[in-house]
Amino acid sequence: MKIFAIETSCDETSCSIIEDGIKEIVTITTSSANLHLKTGGVVPEVAARKQSDSILPAIDECIKTSGLDDLSQIDKFAVTVGPGLIGSLVVGVSAAKSLSLLYQKPLIPVNHLIGHIYGNFINNEHYKEIKFPAIVLIVSGGHTDLVLMKDHGVFEYLGGTLDDAAGEAFDKVARLLGFSRYLGGAELSRCAASCTDKLNYNLFPRAMLDRDNYDFSFSGLKTASLRAYEKNTFSVSQLAYEFEASVVDVLVGKTIKAAQKYKVGTILLGGGVSANKKLREQIFEEGKRYNKKVFFPNLSYCGDSAAYIAGAAYFTYKKMPKKQLQDIIPDPSLTIMDVYP
Ligand code: KG4
Ligand code: ZN
Repeated sequence: MKIFAIETSCDETSCSIIEDGIKEIVTITTSSANLHLKTGGVVPEVAARKQSDSILPAIDECIKTSGLDDLSQIDKFAVTVGPGLIGSLVVGVSAAKSLSLLYQKPLIPVNHLIGHIYGNFINNEHYKEIKFPAIVLIVSGGHTDLVLMKDHGVFEYLGGTLDDAAGEAFDKVARLLGFSRYLGGAELSRCAASCTDKLNYNLFPRAMLDRDNYDFSFSGLKTASLRAYEKNTFSVSQLAYEFEASVVDVLVGKTIKAAQKYKVGTILLGGGVSANKKLREQIFEEGKRYNKKVFFPNLSYCGDSAAYIAGAAYFTYKKMPKKQLQDIIPDPSLTIMDVYP
């Protein structure tokens, strides 16, 4: 089954055709990130305008690159309906509805956060080794959630951040340390990896790690980073290293604790921060120690992409309540538990 998906929840305009939820035929993604460098954050109106400029060219290029004559060979359409920026979401949802009407094929509404999970299935020759129940850690710019995935589309919420998302903390501290003013998480991480004079103690606390729950908090770490920076005692790479170590220890610690408690053998990561090298290495090592199989998406499916929106649609549409086209509407405030938006 071929699904054509559209993802426009924030600053990426992405279209993709995926076969049977796992095989990428084509994905076209453009980003308006360079426009947000000046402001140091997404201006929703700017992102929405860029979405409306980019959506038709992206659809066109997707069809051309796929080798298909048009979209009549597509079985279903899928689109991100939230969470995200309303102006950006409207562009993708409107385009997807038009295609669904034009080609008279069903449209499947997808929750972006559930989508991130399915980055683990695309172009992954080992996807059949993903067994349920599994523990899922979604770490992105806007969300940090830990859930128990009992099956496709069946989730139990375990915990999440009480304040900033992990990616948001990365971005704010990256900015403080003089890296990119917009989405500097990856740059901070590269600097942390280059640190040659590591401290022999933990500069920052591991927030909530010893609490008997699965919640997170990263805002205190942000403030602690600012205070340490203001002291002028530590190098930028030391601060980057210590910050990253604190975030990763907490993410890995809570995820492994959940996997042990719920006796699951599979751990799935997803979201932009799942591209983080230290997080991948540390959770893989800890997973090995506790006999858990850990999966992360290919790097191209960590950030926002329509590829896994198609994947999520494929694996969940059978359980999804049928919806009329007019009832498929953007919802910026969906949570990870709104599995069938
Ligand atoms: O999932 P995503 O592309 O967008 C949202 O849905 O939010 O995640 C973007 C986030 C940003 O905060 C970005 O700085 C962070 O992912 N990120 C990283 C890395 N690559 C992207 N954070 C830490 N290390 C990385 N290598
Ligand atoms: Zn995302």
